[in-house]
Amino acid sequence: ENKQHFKLAVIPGDGIGEEVIQEGLRVVDHLSKTSNKFTFESDYFPWGCEYYLEHGKMMDEDGLERIKNHDAIYFGAVGYPTVPDHISLWGLRLAICQGFDQWANIRPVEFLPGVEGKLNHPHKEKLNWVLVRENTEGEYSGIGGRNFAGRGPGKEVAVQSSVFTEEGCERVIRHAFDLAMKRDRKKVTSVTKSNAQQYGMVLWDEVFKRVSRDYPEVETDQWLVDAMAARFVLHPEELEVVVASNLHADILSDLGSALAGSLGIAPSANIHLDGRFPSMFESVHGSAPDIAGQGIANPIGTIGSAALMLEHLGLKQEADLINEAIRATTKDGILTADIGGTSSTREVTDAIISHISSKY
Ligand code: NAI
Ligand code: MG
Repeated sequence: ENKQHFKLAVIPGDGIGEEVIQEGLRVVDHLSKTSNKFTFESDYFPWGCEYYLEHGKMMDEDGLERIKNHDAIYFGAVGYPTVPDHISLWGLRLAICQGFDQWANIRPVEFLPGVEGKLNHPHKEKLNWVLVRENTEGEYSGIGGRNFAGRGPGKEVAVQSSVFTEEGCERVIRHAFDLAMKRDRKKVTSVTKSNAQQYGMVLWDEVFKRVSRDYPEVETDQWLVDAMAARFVLHPEELEVVVASNLHADILSDLGSALAGSLGIAPSANIHLDGRFPSMFESVHGSAPDIAGQGIANPIGTIGSAALMLEHLGLKQEADLINEAIRATTKDGILTADIGGTSSTREVTDAIISHISSKY
């Protein structure tokens, strides 16, 4: 029998990142033994804020070189109260997403059974949608500057530019349509702020219109981001695949996961589909310093990200098993504190693993 073998680059990062990554790897390890369809090895990289405090950089200089031949990157979270957030973000997570041209960030929003959530909706358990975030340009272009010459104290000026390229817009919008084609209701919603940002976002709109003509089966609509924030709350049943810029989709995805109950349950995939670089899988949440070290972090976002990783690696059945086990676990009321329970990180993972076992 031909077993697949994977090399994972594991970057636990800071705070609860380490706690939840361990749990995700326990699930993958268990699946590899029970399903007998794949084996994997993990290479650990100790990068993050502690590494920064010791070495003055978030990752090794040749960091990207060292992980570019792995099959996937499994990422915890970064951020530490004593390191400025723009340093930790640009030094590691964005360095990987942009350095490896991981141009789409896929963020499903799921309403898990047994989880209260904040959304008041009659058919909540049936709702699910997916945000597709442009992941390499837009508002995160990193282009700008401060301290322009000739200005004194109290008169500082900062410029922060967004970059939208036709190719960058097109590949992520096209991917959103491809995802929509696989869903029961084929619909893509584009989100911009073209009334205020008349260059980049108008280009985005034009590309959206052009690409949509290649997908006559797919229903489309276009919303401004402020109205879309309201729509998430008022008409979530209208959402299927939502495609938006780097910043807008980031904000909307936190809103989506809060509606679904907690940031702790939201998974994500940073994908590069052109075969040159590995993709990276991580929960949406950060390092949560307020609860780090207590063993109470919700592991579901990170375990769900492992499911996205296995699916990406061609193991759709195994990915489905993880997702079913997550749903069975929350349905049983085995929940961490952020979603109203009293279970520990470990207990939730144990329950997920035992649901997986019961399928073999
Ligand atoms: P956060 O996501 O770390 O925490 C926000 C709130 O949600 C906190 O109250 C936290 O306890 C809770 N929470 C998050 N994940 C949870 C989980 N798995 N289980 C239970 N509760 C959970 O965002 P925050 O506080 O804005 O940022 C903390 C640090 O994380 C900062 O340094 C920030 O820069 C960094 N960050 C890193 C990200 C990444 O690595 N991808 C993403 C977002 C923030
Ligand atoms: Mg975010």
